[in-house]
Amino acid sequence: MTEIASTHYPPGPSYRDRLRNPGILHLSTHEFLERNAGTYGDIVHYRAFGRHVFQFNHPEMVQEVLVRDAAMQHRGIVMQRAKFVLGEGLLTSEEPIHMRQRRLVQPGFHRQRIADYGGTMLQFAGEMTSRWHSGDSFDIHRSMLELTLRITGKCLFDSDVESEVKTISDSVTAFMGFLPLAFLPYPHLLLKIPFGFPGRIRKSQKKLDSLIYTMIADRRRSGIDHGDLLSMLLASQDAEGGTGGMTDRQIRDECLTLLLAGHETTANGLSFIFFLMAQHPDVQEKVFAEASDIFEDASSQTLSAAEIYDRLPYSQRVVAEALRMYPPVWVTARTAAVSYAYRGLAIPAGSLLLVPQIAIHRDARWYPEPMHFNPDRFLPEAIAARPRHAYFPFGAGSRICIGENFAWMEAVLVLASVIRNWRLGFPGPAPKELPLSAQISLRPRDGVVVSAAKR
Ligand code: HEM
Repeated sequence: MTEIASTHYPPGPSYRDRLRNPGILHLSTHEFLERNAGTYGDIVHYRAFGRHVFQFNHPEMVQEVLVRDAAMQHRGIVMQRAKFVLGEGLLTSEEPIHMRQRRLVQPGFHRQRIADYGGTMLQFAGEMTSRWHSGDSFDIHRSMLELTLRITGKCLFDSDVESEVKTISDSVTAFMGFLPLAFLPYPHLLLKIPFGFPGRIRKSQKKLDSLIYTMIADRRRSGIDHGDLLSMLLASQDAEGGTGGMTDRQIRDECLTLLLAGHETTANGLSFIFFLMAQHPDVQEKVFAEASDIFEDASSQTLSAAEIYDRLPYSQRVVAEALRMYPPVWVTARTAAVSYAYRGLAIPAGSLLLVPQIAIHRDARWYPEPMHFNPDRFLPEAIAARPRHAYFPFGAGSRICIGENFAWMEAVLVLASVIRNWRLGFPGPAPKELPLSAQISLRPRDGVVVSAAKR
């Protein structure tokens, strides 16, 4: 039976409204999506550059759009263009390649493996804070970018990139700079310009490629199984033989994807968490009380990193609430691959479908006083009283974040291990708001400058 679909579209912002939105060149800023949700309701519609744009703002729609109707969509033009940089990795690939790659990468993220990574997370967080001095003020966003890069490098590729951390993080930053270019037509031609910004991106690409290909070649030569993700990807190639296995190029694409996807988002999430800690000393003291109890136990070597994680329920709620207020992935975008009917509405092929974490996470229907930081919103009974998809910082459906458990473990352990020894504040008066930049990911626009005092 064919559903009769209406072409009478729901309301949305006019051209004039959108021209007034300063973020129009970045496709849409987070304020724009939040304002649309507040003004026009659960489904917002407008046209941009000749395309229909639908914004879905209700938790039930998260399930319907991202899970139920996923077969009718693809990742969209930006991810297609990002292939110039990322190749056919998990982020950019479409079915059926995506499912196959996901099956090969998934074992690297099993619970037991993540539990093993916990030790490295604690060790590197401890090494970072051992270089801090009481009374120092510094940009903790920068520290988190370095820390998460080191952790990702070590856990996934058993490579301690500390000596190269500056080179890699500069390369990764320049590289991330390509992604906004992907919104423009012919980005591959732009990339051919040998000087200026495109030239820097190409140089970064070369540096990162050379690092990753060297890692792959070293592993093949030594034949040693390091028990990390890279060994696993190489083994899957051997096991499947030349026909169905992964080529060096595919392995490079997955390594680069994981390095980029795993590093920036978690660093941004941790920066939001520490901003909120500095802003809310009362909450910070509760994290301290919980962490110091557990770590005293751990120092008697009775607890593994995974057990420490399980015994930090309050810190877990702090992380959950921070990712609600400041979701590092602030909007999930899809493109309709075919024309289809959604709740009686005609969705033409080629429409841009937006499901904004930031608008749903800040909706007062599910989170009264949404900009009030309250970790108890994540007590089990409070979660049970909300619709299931009112919280989806890691997405939903077949493309849900593969690194979700890794990110939880990292954020909670780094939070607890820092606050256990350090009291964070601001060098001047506490800022009321954190200026944000919402491009590919949501990040603090001007960093997060904190002062640290040794406890
Ligand atoms: C707080 C930290 C993180 C957040 C908020 C986050 C969020 C997300 C979201 C929302 C998606 C789905 C995007 C979509 O549906 O279009 C995603 C996908 C992905 N994430 Fe994460 N992520 C985080 C950390 C990580 C880490 C630590 C890794 C790896 C080490 C990682 C690797 C990936 C990959 C590979 C994908 C693509 C999965 C696929 O399409 O099959 N992420 N992430």
